[in-house]
Amino acid sequence: MKVTVIGAGTMGNGIAQVFAQGGNEVVLTDIVEPVLEKARDTIANSLERLSKKGLISETPDQVKRRITFTKSIDDGAGSDIYVEAIVEKVELKKDILQKINEMANEDSIIATNTSSISINYLSGFVKHPENFLGMHFFNPPPVMKLIEIVTGVRTSKKAVEKIQEISKDLGKEPVVVKDYPGFVANRVLMPLLREAIVAYEEGVASKEDIDKTVKLGLNHPMGPLELADFVGLDVTYDVMKVLYDEFGDPRYKPPITLRNMVNAGLLGRKTGEGFYKY
Ligand code: CAA
Ligand code: NAD
Repeated sequence: MKVTVIGAGTMGNGIAQVFAQGGNEVVLTDIVEPVLEKARDTIANSLERLSKKGLISETPDQVKRRITFTKSIDDGAGSDIYVEAIVEKVELKKDILQKINEMANEDSIIATNTSSISINYLSGFVKHPENFLGMHFFNPPPVMKLIEIVTGVRTSKKAVEKIQEISKDLGKEPVVVKDYPGFVANRVLMPLLREAIVAYEEGVASKEDIDKTVKLGLNHPMGPLELADFVGLDVTYDVMKVLYDEFGDPRYKPPITLRNMVNAGLLGRKTGEGFYKY
């Protein structure tokens, strides 16, 4: 299959890698050249790690050869699958979906990796809403097993079954969920991240001790402040805003500290500083 992934940031490069590992020809596109360069390095490092552990049957070079890194989204014309993985902003996603309409085949599947934006709302911008759904990967995509397949009212059973099958072929575990704010994972995760940030604002403990408590006391692989940095504080903030707008529940209200850090450009790992420095 030919697969085009739009957006090569935190998620897009890992998604492209997963599809390439699955034997697909992948076009990975971004509007920012240095992001594409970084994506190339991230994928190379990740493949080396997987290769050393014997988790891939091909050499890293064989997998890498299937990925085209390009600033030109038009290189993705005629793909079987499109995965939109650009920033969590409705207006930008709308533009990209309209661009994909011009390049896609009648039966191409168009998927969005959105963390929180309504699939039904976004389906209004695609020509064939029956072929549109959420294919929600988790960070880092080469490691995390889950894919939330998010269905809109007009998503066809055929498209869902196809993505379920493809997800399994990629070595992932799909779950099918309805278009509800935050779907399942982020609905559950965001109150945890929010509560940790509020505890930090209130001075309950140092950031390190908040993270240590959750890691060692609750056995999470990362502390919540570390995880928010890993996800990206902008993404975390945007997702909380959608959840708060839609549920109106204070459990999702974005903390002011988070807003201030995002406005100041401290976005976590991807900018080198968030709750921690990298
Ligand atoms: N590519 C390949 N392998 C990788 C990798 C990558 N990008 N990142 C980590 N690994 C591998 C390592 O090689 C290592 O393998 P072994 O255990 O076999 O040695 C393993 O993963 C663990 O890696 P590390 O020792 O480097 O670091 P770690 O133990 O801290 O694990 C982690 C890293 C897998 C990211 C782990 O910390 C973790 O699971 N963190 C939580 C991640 C999480 O919750 N993600 C979901 C975020 S929410 C989301 O994605 C949804 C949304 O919409 C916001
Ligand atoms: P990111 O900020 O790391 O990367 C987004 C990339 O999109 C940037 O490199 C940017 O240059 C690019 N971009 C912006 N406009 C573009 C355009 N018009 N054409 C091509 N590229 C464009 O963001 P991310 O964390 O990778 O998030 C991407 C999507 O995945 C979002 O919808 C987010 O909610 C979702 N998501 C994120 C995570 C996470 O942990 N970060 C997990 C699951 C899902």
